[in-house]
Amino acid sequence: MAEFPQRVFSGMQPTSTLHLGNYLGALTNWVAMQESYDCVYCVVDMHAITVWQDPAELTRAIREVTAAYLAAGVDPKKSIIFNQSQVAQHAELAWVFNCVARLGWLNRMTQFKEKAGKDRENASVGLYAYPNLMAADILLYKATHVPVGEDQKQHLELARDIAQKFNNDFAEQIAARGLGTGELGFFPQPEPMIQGPAPRVMSLRDGTKKMSKSDASDYSRINLTDDAETIAQKVRKAKTDPEALPSEEKGLEGRPEAENLVGIYAGLSGESRAQVLGQFGGGQFSAFKAALVDLAVAKLAPIAGEMRRLLADPSHIDGILGQGAERAAEIAAPIMRDVKDVVGFVRAR
Ligand code: TYM
Repeated sequence: MAEFPQRVFSGMQPTSTLHLGNYLGALTNWVAMQESYDCVYCVVDMHAITVWQDPAELTRAIREVTAAYLAAGVDPKKSIIFNQSQVAQHAELAWVFNCVARLGWLNRMTQFKEKAGKDRENASVGLYAYPNLMAADILLYKATHVPVGEDQKQHLELARDIAQKFNNDFAEQIAARGLGTGELGFFPQPEPMIQGPAPRVMSLRDGTKKMSKSDASDYSRINLTDDAETIAQKVRKAKTDPEALPSEEKGLEGRPEAENLVGIYAGLSGESRAQVLGQFGGGQFSAFKAALVDLAVAKLAPIAGEMRRLLADPSHIDGILGQGAERAAEIAAPIMRDVKDVVGFVRAR
């Protein structure tokens, strides 16, 4: 049976500084996947402006997120790194998908409801259509694997629905032009890859809330730009419960803060949660936290240092993004031309 060639696509929004959730939920998996896949990693600046961004701050954040990718180990020789707005086909395909996706599908998106809150009438149209642009990002490269944190699962399901509807709606044209991959259609069904021991990193202040850049308390998250002293302080202050750590994973049930810190330790050390509990189970939080401080500082402080070094030379970063955009467009342009033919648009040949 025909198969789509394997390709990875993922992205992060340049809206303020990246945090440990972004790192463990996504970035560490991106780095690992470079070894076995053809990878495209995007700084999704067009997604960022679905809520107001100060222009100068946006420019800074695009470079900072790029620096974080590089400092964490994404290698521009192995992978394509670029910012979304430099490859115009993202916007073009998103428009086609605005006309494929149904209002009912978007109405179910929980992230829109959370972000728009009570003032829904005042949210931008872009925030509402955001998942269609995300589907375009992925399918513009016919990506088959998408490494993300758990919070992106619903958006990935929508991307799969859009791919399927496009394949069905235009099945005749796709077949007539020989543009399908066997029975599978024009677009693949992208697989979410929600992996590792920390696919959902929670706030350090409240183990029932996701770690997020929008939390008012900076003590709720570890930022990738934090220095060693700040990281240590945040771990020491992290909320815990009075019990000792359990020796087995099932003992973490109903103990969200303990579960979160064990997941963070496992994510940073590359071990499983069971291995971490094998080492620390039965002991008090104080000893575990001391080990977590050492581990977090050893892993994260060098990333912050490397980001600072890279950010001192913005033109180097802009060069990497520019070259990445050229390579991305080489893949995207022929796929977008095929989409236009399938839809029935006329173009110069
Ligand atoms: P964004 O920018 O909110 O987050 C970037 C990545 O970090 C993951 N993440 C987390 N993982 C674990 N625990 C957390 N607390 C946590 N917070 C964030 C996210 O799951 C994500 O993988 N819509 C996307 C960006 C995007 C995209 C795409 C992703 C646009 N187009 C195409 C994949 C493919 C977003 O807002 O991610």
